[in-house]
Amino acid sequence: MRVRILGSAAGGGSPQWNCRCAVCALAWAGDSRVPWRTQCSTAVSADGERWVLLNASPDLRQQILENPPLRPARDGRHSPIAAVVVTNADVDHVAGLLTLREGQKLTVAAPPQVLAQIDANPIFGVLNRELVAFRPLRPGEPQEIAGLEVTAFPVAAKVPLWMEGTADALAAEGTGLMIESAGRRVAHVTACAEVTDELRRRVAGSDLLLFDGTLWRDDELVRAGLGAKTGRRMGHVPIAGAGGALEAWRDVPVGRRLFLHVNNTNPVLVAGSPERLAVQDAGWDVAADGMEITL
Ligand code: MLT
Ligand code: MN
Ligand code: ZN
Repeated sequence: MRVRILGSAAGGGSPQWNCRCAVCALAWAGDSRVPWRTQCSTAVSADGERWVLLNASPDLRQQILENPPLRPARDGRHSPIAAVVVTNADVDHVAGLLTLREGQKLTVAAPPQVLAQIDANPIFGVLNRELVAFRPLRPGEPQEIAGLEVTAFPVAAKVPLWMEGTADALAAEGTGLMIESAGRRVAHVTACAEVTDELRRRVAGSDLLLFDGTLWRDDELVRAGLGAKTGRRMGHVPIAGAGGALEAWRDVPVGRRLFLHVNNTNPVLVAGSPERLAVQDAGWDVAADGMEITL
């Protein structure tokens, strides 16, 4: 199985278009410790020919340009992108579907509530339903998608930001994915408000864990004067601190662990920073755009 990180940053990317926080300022300056990152998406392939996107980022066109395996390989209309699995309807996970609108056969698989959120928005009608098959991905029911076995499972999360006015934000059920091929297992969780015992049990023994690295500290945005919400209120458990990802995953056996969906304010984006070193000391690394892992 090949796992390719197309985009490793959270919504907004790094640097974010309107931000000069301490980390973005380094990124804008071209500091080599902070390579630019596009918004969160991962591509997975069982055979190296058909690829499944895990979420469709607003930067998808740029990601296709920068990742040769995703470029058309046959004459006429062709794409190695066979399917997109969408874990939630956040802008940074669905906007890229609009990039895939030029009449291409495709499967979009998502939990029923996410399909309903996509369906409720007429702009996604640009995806021709005669060519694009929308398939429900029900938690606990494995599905074969382009040669991969994909199983969704529930995680603690939050409704999309654009729906917060109409729903109880934290009552929502989020979605993690287990992707399996030839006995190898990848766990993918980009939005997680809490690492529960059930989640730990489910992920234990995976060859790779791609996990929500949005914030270093729960109050990171508040302290930086950039927002009023804590990480947990945004549906993202912080990396550091009590109950944070480093602590919660410490004793769970996993082959390799990477943080992705990293917000532009997060000091782990700076290579060599104390926070990056702490993450590395704990056996983690921070995903980077273009990184490929073969399992
Ligand atoms: C998130 O990860 O919390 C969302 O992408 C926020 C947003 O939609 O801007
Ligand atoms: Mn996001
Ligand atoms: Zn910033």
